[in-house]
Amino acid sequence: MPSMTRRQWLGLTALAGGATALALKPAETGAPHGAFFARLSQALRQAGLNQPTLVIDRERLHANARQVRANLDQGLALRLVNKSLPSLPLLDEVAGLTGTRRQMVFNLPYLRWLAEQRPDSDVLLGKPFPVAAAAQLLTEPPRSGFDMSRQVQWLVDSPSRLAQYRDLARGQRVALRINLEIDVGLHRGGVPDEATLQQVIALLREEPLLRWSGLMGYDAHTQKIPDLAGSRARAHEHVLSTYRERLTALQGSGLSPVDGALTLNTGGSPTYRLHRAGGPANEVAVGSALVKPIDFDTPLLADLQPAAWIATPVLKVQGFRAPDGVQALGRLAQGWDPNQRTAHFIHGGHWLALPESPEGLQASGLIGPSSNQQLFLGSGRQGLQPDDLVFFRPTQSEAVLQQFGDIAVVEGDRVVAMWPTFPARG
Ligand SMILES: Cc1ncc(COP(=O)(O)O)c(C=O)c1O
Repeated sequence: MPSMTRRQWLGLTALAGGATALALKPAETGAPHGAFFARLSQALRQAGLNQPTLVIDRERLHANARQVRANLDQGLALRLVNKSLPSLPLLDEVAGLTGTRRQMVFNLPYLRWLAEQRPDSDVLLGKPFPVAAAAQLLTEPPRSGFDMSRQVQWLVDSPSRLAQYRDLARGQRVALRINLEIDVGLHRGGVPDEATLQQVIALLREEPLLRWSGLMGYDAHTQKIPDLAGSRARAHEHVLSTYRERLTALQGSGLSPVDGALTLNTGGSPTYRLHRAGGPANEVAVGSALVKPIDFDTPLLADLQPAAWIATPVLKVQGFRAPDGVQALGRLAQGWDPNQRTAHFIHGGHWLALPESPEGLQASGLIGPSSNQQLFLGSGRQGLQPDDLVFFRPTQSEAVLQQFGDIAVVEGDRVVAMWPTFPARG
């Protein structure tokens, strides 16, 4: 074979480089809203909504609620995660569709609000409150008829906190339902071992005002850790066996559950499908999955649909000009990527959310995010004009659903309700 000259080699290398660059060059993407988002857009416009707005598609919410209920074994109750669906009408809607009065509550203001507004609720706390918070509520109980000693289960994670709650119960001469947080592998706290459990049992046995009402073992880690050689399945097995061991120890201790019934809570959106009626728990908590934000796009939740978005107007549409100082870089980026041709400045931004429709919008790497007017670049194929709406899908529902005032509820092609949200709280 004739050997190649240096010049031929260089030519070939340049050709190969050019071909690789061409293959890597981003293709032009983007399209206007499809039928679904065009309908949401139309509904919001007709309702005169022209500020960033949280929108829920009611049909999808209903479908999700029915699906979650259908997925649960008979004998496995559902408890709604209050902070992940932070609006009373939203919680009412899902509670009605799934037939539950049970809620898991995570802070004092929401507990007070729920107790006042929905006095037939059955509340399990989702984290242990400082005893001072419990004292505050007991000192000024709701006047709705909600019975603090029967309808709230205070979550307690350690012997020292249980001693504080004992002193509170004695001081106020009230009975308190105590649900024990157990560590089933997440290591976010809770009773960690048998020895600590025995201390807790001793405290419970000594004080008749403390009424043992159940266990709570949260297990989200089993679906969040990397799945290395079966690590998730093993973590789940460990959850079940630890839960069973703690329950057996408590049941064998002679403690009798208040009213003869135990609330044995586990799970959350990421894991609820893994729990069956034959397991140690008798209820699962679910919140976020019902509106399915991006973080919940997992195989176990594949039968649920996204149901909540942020809709916001585009304020300005123009050819993208990078800011002074990086204009040369901007031109380079645009030459390389046709999807950086058109600039869209939106009303607001920098949310825990990603652009969903119209497709093909991306944040600019040359200018940071903005809560005032964030820039999103596109090819122009989106066909957006100023005042048109863009839809973002939240990455989570907790906190995000409360950032936009009342939630617009769309059914068919109309906004049929505006649901007030809880005030933002940690
Ligand atoms: C104790 C507990 N249970 C359940 C959940 C699940 O909530 P979600 O269904 O919204 O993921 C959480 C979430 O933080 C939690 O802390």
